[in-house]
Formats: sequence, structure tokens, C-alpha cells
Amino acid sequence: MGKSKVLVVGGTGYLGRRLVKASLAQGHETYILHRPEIGVDIDKVQMLLSFKQQGALLVEGSFNDHQSLVDAVKLVDVVICAISGVHIRSHQILLQLKLVDAIKEAGNVKRFLPSEFGTDPARMGDAMEPGRVTFDDKMVVRKAIRDAGIPFTYVSANCFAGYMVGGLCQPGKILPSRDKVVLFGDGNQKSIFLDEDDIAAYTIKTINDPRTLNKTVYLRPPENILSQRQVIEIWEKLIGKVLEKSIISEEEYLASMKGQSYEEQVGLTHYYHVYFDGCLTNFEIGPEGEEASKLYPEVRYTRVDEYLRRYL
Ligand SMILES: NC(=O)c1ccc[n+]([C@@H]2O[C@H](COP(=O)([O-])OP(=O)(O)OC[C@H]3O[C@@H](n4cnc5c(N)ncnc54)[C@H](OP(=O)(O)O)[C@@H]3O)[C@@H](O)[C@H]2O)c1
Repeated sequence: MGKSKVLVVGGTGYLGRRLVKASLAQGHETYILHRPEIGVDIDKVQMLLSFKQQGALLVEGSFNDHQSLVDAVKLVDVVICAISGVHIRSHQILLQLKLVDAIKEAGNVKRFLPSEFGTDPARMGDAMEPGRVTFDDKMVVRKAIRDAGIPFTYVSANCFAGYMVGGLCQPGKILPSRDKVVLFGDGNQKSIFLDEDDIAAYTIKTINDPRTLNKTVYLRPPENILSQRQVIEIWEKLIGKVLEKSIISEEEYLASMKGQSYEEQVGLTHYYHVYFDGCLTNFEIGPEGEEASKLYPEVRYTRVDEYLRRYL
């Protein structure tokens, strides 16, 4: 596959910084939007400078300045947006409508990858409040992309391992416990776990692949399709100890959501759909989609046991 000029928007973010690294590693001319609003955020500025040292090009632009976005977008063939979309951190998905306007006006972009990287929002029409806002907002952005006639790829990345594997699939935890663990029901619902660097590597593979044009690419590395119980068993093997297990039923879980903050409830809704409904694995990929590990077997993805070794 040839090389592209790539603009990463949200390049200092949790996923965005990995997209920048993967784009550089795969040899693309990589631009990062440098927003003046980051001001004196020393960590972000230092990260941008370090990316510059690694060969990235910084381009100034602001969501408050349409022309600056148009000018930034005109420099490249591919735009990847990784703007925030996790409520407990920040949720700015609809800001992308401004980016869509800029891409439409610039008229040169061959592929746009909006900030998706989770559950396929097109399959979440029946999702619960308040968490459905994430899917609804991503669908608003999809509609704007289609209305503007912009070529796209949507990446459905399933579960970021740092959130889900790290906490043994328990909400509010990102480190694996060594004594007890709470199971969602019988703990047997299958989910899909991705090392965030692998998400970035697969994403960059798609950007100029004709097979992924105007499609959703689902990341389903086969050995990482596991139930919560299986993730716990892997951890138990690594630490040589069986954890004490308790179960939270669907009814108890839904009741426990009440009284939490709005931001927490959004996240808890997402956990509900993954671990009680099986929303990541209860469908076959149709003609509108492709599966990344089949398209790119050369990517050696991180297995869940390798990921968990980091916590030993
Ligand atoms: N599947 C999963 O398990 C999972 C988990 C987490 C996230 N996700 C998805 O991944 C995507 C990226 O999430 P993330 O957690 O990586 O995001 P993040 O680190 O919270 O934020 C990413 C970037 O968004 C930009 N940003 C934040 N607020 C902004 C504002 N007001 N105006 C303009 N830019 C702003 C910033 O980029 P700059 O300052 O560099 O411009 C920030 O670094 C989202 O779509 C999210 O839903 C999925």
C-alpha cells in the first residue's frame, strides 16, 4: 500500500498519541493538529515536541477557527480524528461537525476516520439512557459525513484493554485485583479486548486500503474474544491464585447505577451492553464491514495474557 499524508486530530489524547506513533511507524507523512487552546499544558506541548523530533509535522488549527481547519486539512489526504468521547474524561464528539465542514470545503481528503473506536454505534439504536448519547452523537457525525459525501472508514475497536482487561472488566477499576472480583451475571458473555497500540496499528493499516473504503472495520483478533471469566482465569494463572468471586445480577447492576453521577452512568450503561447484552459479539459482520485481523494478518496483536503480564 502506498504512503499517505495523514492529519491526526486529538493527537495528544489517550488513543490519538498512539495513532501518531503508528502513522509514523508505518511511514506516512504525519501531521498533528496543534490547537492554541492547549495553552500552557506542559505535558501536551512536550508530547507534541517529542512527536516533532520523531518526524511529525505540527500544524496550528482551532475548532474555533474554521479557516484554520480548512488549511490544515488541505495539507493531507487522510484525516483521523481521535477527539475525546469518554464522559468521565471529556466528551467532544459533536465538535467533529466542524471538522466535517472543513473537510467538505477543502474537498481534497480521500479518507476521513472520525472518532469512533468503540462499539459500532449503528448497532446501538436500542441502547439505554444515558449511555446512548455516545452512540447517538457518533451517528450524528456519521450522517454529516455521508451528507457531505466524504469518503470514510469507521473503526469499531471494541474494548480498550487498559480500561477493561486492566480492571478485569469491573467498572471503576483499571488495575487487576489480587483478592476478589465481581462477575457480571454468570461472567460468560463474550467480549473483545484490544491493546490500544494494536488499535492504532490496525487503524493506520486501513487508511489507504481500497477494501476499507466507506466501510466499518471491526477489530476482532480471534484469541482476544473472551468472557470476563476467561480474562480472570488468565490473571489467576499469572498470579498463581484463585480470586474470590461474587456475582452481580442484571437487576442489581441496573439498580446500582442509580445515584451515580451522569458521567459514571454513561460508562456503566456501556458496560451493561457489553457484559449483559453481548453487544460486541452478538452479530456477524455483514457486507458493510470488514474484520481487521483477516485483512492484516501481519499485525502481531497482543494477547490478553501478554497485556496482563504488565501488571505483575
Ligand atoms: N472502546 C473503548 O473501550 C474506548 C475507550 C476509550 C475511548 N474510546 C473512544 O476513543 C476515542 C478517543 O478517546 P480518548 O479517550 O483517546 O480521548 P481523550 O484522551 O480523552 O481526548 C483526546 C483528545 O481530544 C481533544 N480534545 C479534548 N477536548 C477538546 C476540546 N474541548 N476541543 C478540541 N479538542 C479536544 C484533545 O486533543 P488535542 O489537545 O491533542 O487537540 C485530547 O487529547 C473516542 O471516540 C472514545 O469514545 C473507546
